[in-house]
Amino acid sequence: MSILVTGGAGYIGGHVVRLLLERGDEVVVVDDLSSGSASRIRGAKLVQLDLSDTGRRAELVETLRANDVTAVIHFAAKKQVGESVLRPAWYYEQNVGALAGLLLALEEVGVRDLVFSSSAAVYGATPSGLLDEETPTRPINPYGATKLIGEQMLAAIAQTGTIRATSLRYFNVAGAGWPELADTAVLNLVPMVFERLDRHEAPRIFGDDYPTADGTCIRDYVHVLDLARAHLAALDTTSEGHRVFNVGTGTGSSVREMIDAILEASGADIEPVVEARRPGDPAEVVADVGLIERELGWRAKLGLREIVESAWAAHVRA
Ligand SMILES: NC(=O)c1ccc[n+]([C@@H]2O[C@H](COP(=O)([O-])OP(=O)(O)OC[C@H]3O[C@@H](n4cnc5c(N)ncnc54)[C@H](O)[C@@H]3O)[C@@H](O)[C@H]2O)c1
Repeated sequence: MSILVTGGAGYIGGHVVRLLLERGDEVVVVDDLSSGSASRIRGAKLVQLDLSDTGRRAELVETLRANDVTAVIHFAAKKQVGESVLRPAWYYEQNVGALAGLLLALEEVGVRDLVFSSSAAVYGATPSGLLDEETPTRPINPYGATKLIGEQMLAAIAQTGTIRATSLRYFNVAGAGWPELADTAVLNLVPMVFERLDRHEAPRIFGDDYPTADGTCIRDYVHVLDLARAHLAALDTTSEGHRVFNVGTGTGSSVREMIDAILEASGADIEPVVEARRPGDPAEVVADVGLIERELGWRAKLGLREIVESAWAAHVRA
């Protein structure tokens, strides 16, 4: 019996693979290594395969059978919002096409349990404040749309009774559970600030005139290790149908608070510069995490300090 982790060689998948191996599960990773690295998954079996390549479906089916896979965690996807705007067809192929192919393979073999990496990007341009799972989903870019379509596919298939699925809508993921598993992409606030500090440039704040306590945008940062544990909680409590959960901390941190924490962790003595607002940034986006607490018994344990210190420790080691 084993767990198939697609995209397991990536940042978040690598953390989940590590936790599964630590508790004694057999793990098979399917990953094309387009952004992942085999060095993250020592101890797991790796099948290098592009899930959007329909010509390799038989190999995927064979992998499921040969390893007696009982459940799947599907991380594999492209995740850059800007790139999704420039190459939407490719994003639909990578994120929607690959999932459809995976689901056909699961159907063929009879694997029923699936946990899916969704995103708070499904909510789109929301009014500021706490978002629960009933908040209307109106993605504003192809990346967010591919995640919403993924959820809709799972809901439709779960309704037939073929699969039992859980979609986890991640808020802002950061930090590192182990330094060697850290995020290497420079797409989010924390790595972006690190990159500025490396160049001895001041971190940038986009707008300090939002209706928040210090005027800067507020987001919900969840430690990748907490997020990884949420996948195990989902895996261990499967139920019929399709469930959707926000995964965040329920507490917002402002951009200025985050930058101050990074400056403290790094010891850098440099004042952030304030620039114009970026279009489309809501003032405050924070997860209502009541549902996942009630249904899965999961809640985040780690806070801003642990996120920043673990990310910085990994950065200086790299
Ligand atoms: N990091 C975040 O802040 C965040 C937030 C919300 C949702 N997510 C979602 O979480 C998942 C994991 O994100 P991550 O941050 O670990 O990204 P990542 O890029 O580090 O990991 C993605 C992994 O999937 C693999 N992959 C990509 N396309 C593939 C394909 N066609 N076939 C096989 N493997 C493929 C990559 O090689 C990589 O190992 C993604 O689905 C992403 O959309 C991430």
